[in-house]
Amino acid sequence: MTFFDRPLLAIETSCDETSAAVIVGSEIRSNAVASQIALHQKWGGVVPEAAARAHLEALVPIIDAALSDAGITLAELGAIAVTNRPGLVGALSVGVSAGKALAFDLEIPLIGVDHLEGHLSSVLSVSTTIPFPMLALIASGGHTELVLVKEWGEYELVAETRDDAAGEAFDKGARLMGLGYPGGKAIQDAARSGDPTRYKLPQGLAQDAAAFSFSGLKTAMLRLVEKEGPDLNIPDAAASLQEAVVGALVKKAVRAADDYQVASCALVGGVAANEALRNRMRDQMERRGVQFYTPDFGLCTDNAAMIGLAGSWRLAKGAGSDMSLEPSPQSTLF
Ligand code: KG4
Ligand code: ZN
Repeated sequence: MTFFDRPLLAIETSCDETSAAVIVGSEIRSNAVASQIALHQKWGGVVPEAAARAHLEALVPIIDAALSDAGITLAELGAIAVTNRPGLVGALSVGVSAGKALAFDLEIPLIGVDHLEGHLSSVLSVSTTIPFPMLALIASGGHTELVLVKEWGEYELVAETRDDAAGEAFDKGARLMGLGYPGGKAIQDAARSGDPTRYKLPQGLAQDAAAFSFSGLKTAMLRLVEKEGPDLNIPDAAASLQEAVVGALVKKAVRAADDYQVASCALVGGVAANEALRNRMRDQMERRGVQFYTPDFGLCTDNAAMIGLAGSWRLAKGAGSDMSLEPSPQSTLF
């Protein structure tokens, strides 16, 4: 597999992290991330207008940080990669405008990157020689997709969520239990001392190989919180919720790994930061002789390095965008 060989600046502003990174080939030279978590915490979720404004304020300092961390000047850049889809259009447009302006001004190539291909490409930080076919689970606050990767750029959607994403199940469950936002890490921490068998929670569409569903889990959590009131055991409830989400994700991934006889499996996206999920997926895949890959925690949640990795191999294949690049709420991968 080949990569763009000059320094590439990547920009990511699709949701609530403002990020810029410098990539050379497949090597991450810097990855600066400004999180808006504190800003959105008081509303318990991402407010699109506030996100766009915060990106506008944070982007230039974050680009400066990425360049200085990498020891690269603007004049040395060979290309710009920017997330232009899918995501919040107002948020995306901040990054896309900046990317276009830089590429135009520096007279260097520009490439618009699909955020989901960015998450997939984050495994290139672990290995650039992953055997195909590869099954990838993208699990984040906005996405839950099982993808068959036949080779880089050739994808088949195996399963997606009918309603909430896996990360939303964590976030909404955490909110119901008063554990704050975002909920994934808080649930994981609370679950450590909990009993996952204490409360029975649904895994959703257990028989359906092509769909996840987490809305029933959210409703069951609401009922549980109402029924137990102050008697609710938070660690047990957190462990039970984590078990329901991890169980659903791993079962469908294992079934797909068997059905498609994959050689490897990648776990990516913010929810891939979950230790229980990482451990169980690794164990189940390795038992089947399937090589398992998952990036470091910082490359699981939204970041520009993964966008730069996707842009780097796409540019090396001759792809690119022009000044008509626009933000879009839709992915174009499948
Ligand atoms: O990929 P990401 O940063 O943003 C999206 O593209 O959505 O994913 C954020 C999601 C949130 O729902 C957050 O609760 C979840 O990832 N998350 C976790 C953990 N860390 C972050 N979920 C479970 N366990 C974690 N340790
Ligand atoms: Zn994401």
